[in-house]
Amino acid sequence: MASPLFTANAPAGTPLNIDAARYLATESIRRVKPEWRIIVAERAFRPRPENPQADWLPTVVAPALKLIAEDHAPVRAFASIGTGAGVDILAGIELLGASVVGATDIFPDITDAADWNIRQNLSPDHPVDVHVAPGDLLSPLAGRGLRFDVIYENLPNIPLSDAGSLEEKRKSSSFVPPRAERVPPFADHWMLALHYVALAQALDFLNPGGFVISTLGGRIPLDILQRLALEAGLKPSFLNYSWKAQAEGEDVLPSYTDLEARGFGPFHYYPVDVLEKVFDGVSPRESGLRAFEIERELQPHRVTAAQAWQDYQQGHRVGHTVAVLKSSRG
Ligand SMILES: C[S@@+](CC[C@H](N)C(=O)[O-])C[C@H]1O[C@@H](n2cnc3c(N)ncnc32)[C@H](O)[C@@H]1O
Repeated sequence: MASPLFTANAPAGTPLNIDAARYLATESIRRVKPEWRIIVAERAFRPRPENPQADWLPTVVAPALKLIAEDHAPVRAFASIGTGAGVDILAGIELLGASVVGATDIFPDITDAADWNIRQNLSPDHPVDVHVAPGDLLSPLAGRGLRFDVIYENLPNIPLSDAGSLEEKRKSSSFVPPRAERVPPFADHWMLALHYVALAQALDFLNPGGFVISTLGGRIPLDILQRLALEAGLKPSFLNYSWKAQAEGEDVLPSYTDLEARGFGPFHYYPVDVLEKVFDGVSPRESGLRAFEIERELQPHRVTAAQAWQDYQQGHRVGHTVAVLKSSRG
């Protein structure tokens, strides 16, 4: 149970405590509070501090932010599109040294909680200018004169044809508003429409030399991800490349199998023992530089989602790669 102090003036949601050093796998916490007290709004993704290996932020985002810090720290202005609980912003403050942050999410209840979570866990020793607003992609941050050095996005992969209205109150992870912008057909074919529009919008929000990082576990070929950045007018590279065993396979694999039957993909899956072997001993830095080579090594073992679902039902472990695409303004 949360203490009354913890929940005083807090937005609606479930309280959660996070040991920041453990969660971010870093020795000391210097720029935010060491113990985060956060509220997870009902529709937001719940961070998994009790099992960091199952959580995107410690396993995919934090390693990417650490590589960025090695190359560019301190990064002054950091933004997250689709921030969820806002812990990605706290990670950006701690790991990059950001002192101006911007965060959006489509649902106001999510941004109310994220705003509270960020402000609640700042350290008095590292003042931060915080901008959090609800709405579509980067548009809520327009008109404030804000420019960012790094913009992070981990938006859902959704076909445009599944676009719905906000009133339908779908689960946040599966919501996509109807889009007015032109989306290249290849981007929709790979369910990357939201990522594409976010990259195209980012051009107006990036400082010179700034870039977007997109974390993509979409079972999608690397050349398609590269093309996404190029068509949005940005210069692509891969910051890091890793893999995940398919979690909740009973739910996820049939849904990717259905999408293939509807003409999307075909998606890329691999046996877990092959992924383990090919990625063994490859550092995060090296994985980004050698991403295409690694993809070629995996290629003979590649199966579709439909095949992966069959293999999974026969007791085989399957997984997919995760790419962190860096799209630079140049
Ligand atoms: C997979 S979660 C990512 C949460 C967090 N950034 C992370 O990496 O753990 C995707 C988030 O994007 C938000 N989202 C979906 N469509 C959006 C849109 N059009 N504009 C802004 N946020 C959106 C969802 O509500 C959800 O919180």
